Amino acid sequence: MISEEQIKNMLELMKNGIHYVKKDMPGMDLLKKAQQIILGDVRDSRIHLLKPYLLTTQNLRYIQKTLPDKADSAFTILGAGNNVFELVRCNVKNIVAVDVNELQLLIYYLHYASILTLSAKDYENFLINTTSSKFLSLDVLKNIEDAFKGNEKYFNVWKELLSINPLEDLMNYFLKNVGGDPSKVRYSLPYLGNKKEFYALKSKLENANIAVDTAEALEYLNSLDRKFDYIDITNILLFIYQAGCNNNNEEFQQELQKLRNIFEYNLNDGGTFILDYFFGVALDSDFSNMDMLIKPIYNAIADFLKNNFDLESIQVEKQIPGFGNDLDSVILTRKKLTVTKNRFRPRA
Ligand SMILES: C[S@@+](CC[C@H](N)C(=O)[O-])C[C@H]1O[C@@H](n2cnc3c(N)ncnc32)[C@H](O)[C@@H]1O
Repeated sequence: MISEEQIKNMLELMKNGIHYVKKDMPGMDLLKKAQQIILGDVRDSRIHLLKPYLLTTQNLRYIQKTLPDKADSAFTILGAGNNVFELVRCNVKNIVAVDVNELQLLIYYLHYASILTLSAKDYENFLINTTSSKFLSLDVLKNIEDAFKGNEKYFNVWKELLSINPLEDLMNYFLKNVGGDPSKVRYSLPYLGNKKEFYALKSKLENANIAVDTAEALEYLNSLDRKFDYIDITNILLFIYQAGCNNNNEEFQQELQKLRNIFEYNLNDGGTFILDYFFGVALDSDFSNMDMLIKPIYNAIADFLKNNFDLESIQVEKQIPGFGNDLDSVILTRKKLTVTKNRFRPRA
């Protein structure tokens, strides 16, 4: 059902064909970035890289299974923010999350404001269930405006994006990972699967100390004098191989040395370092069924990790049907509890 207000907005747009946005609106640069993606050439594969994920592609059940007891601090890749919310659900209070793509912050604040304001059902209808009339609805957005306090620029961007673009364009040309089976998404987001957990998350979120930023994760950690109980850098190594190292394996192996430093200087004793998440393949697979372009990357990642860390892997059911078998693998290493003094990174 289209609401009266939506019809009024549409008529207004159709009447003059022009939508005015104040050029000094906070968030204007981000709005331009987003709108350029929507209007970009669909044949340009670089545009695909710039599109933000609306939801994680992972099954986040691995987080609870791999968190050390009483973990208090975590570093994670932001993505859509679902990892952050799952960590908060699991009582981690101090979280730093970064993403190279600022548009992921736009997604994060939308989830954040929605969780604080909406019922579990409405959260699902607004951000997951594409068949709902509430999916990315401007009316719902207006109802959650107050929860953007302090981050108004992200509200402004959403308000304009939802006013200017037909929903179909947002789904087809802007967002990644939309339209999944809601029951599978619910299963892979434990904070949503159980309503009691969802409502408990609201108050935990209000009391958590969460810092989000736009940054390259390995560089960020390598210049950070801080330790965490849990570090999760899943699903960035493939991007680093392709975009950061131009598919050059030697350069890639060099870049991955940063992981050794992160393990040494950013992880607390007794902490867990989640190194990667393989979709539909196990760490010990020979990756023979993989696409010719992806196979050497998985081999390069697996080789480096096996040669440099004492690895464990755990399996979770996959969220998104497709490549490989029904199980995804999470690759991790743990740092032993020791009685020796903490070591600090030597100053450059
Ligand atoms: C497939 S998602 C995975 C993120 C997260 N694990 C999840 O499931 O939501 C990849 C995200 O990592 C970000 N990313 C890729 N390379 C990165 C890097 N080197 N540092 C920080 N973020 C990165 C991308 O912008 C994207 O949002």
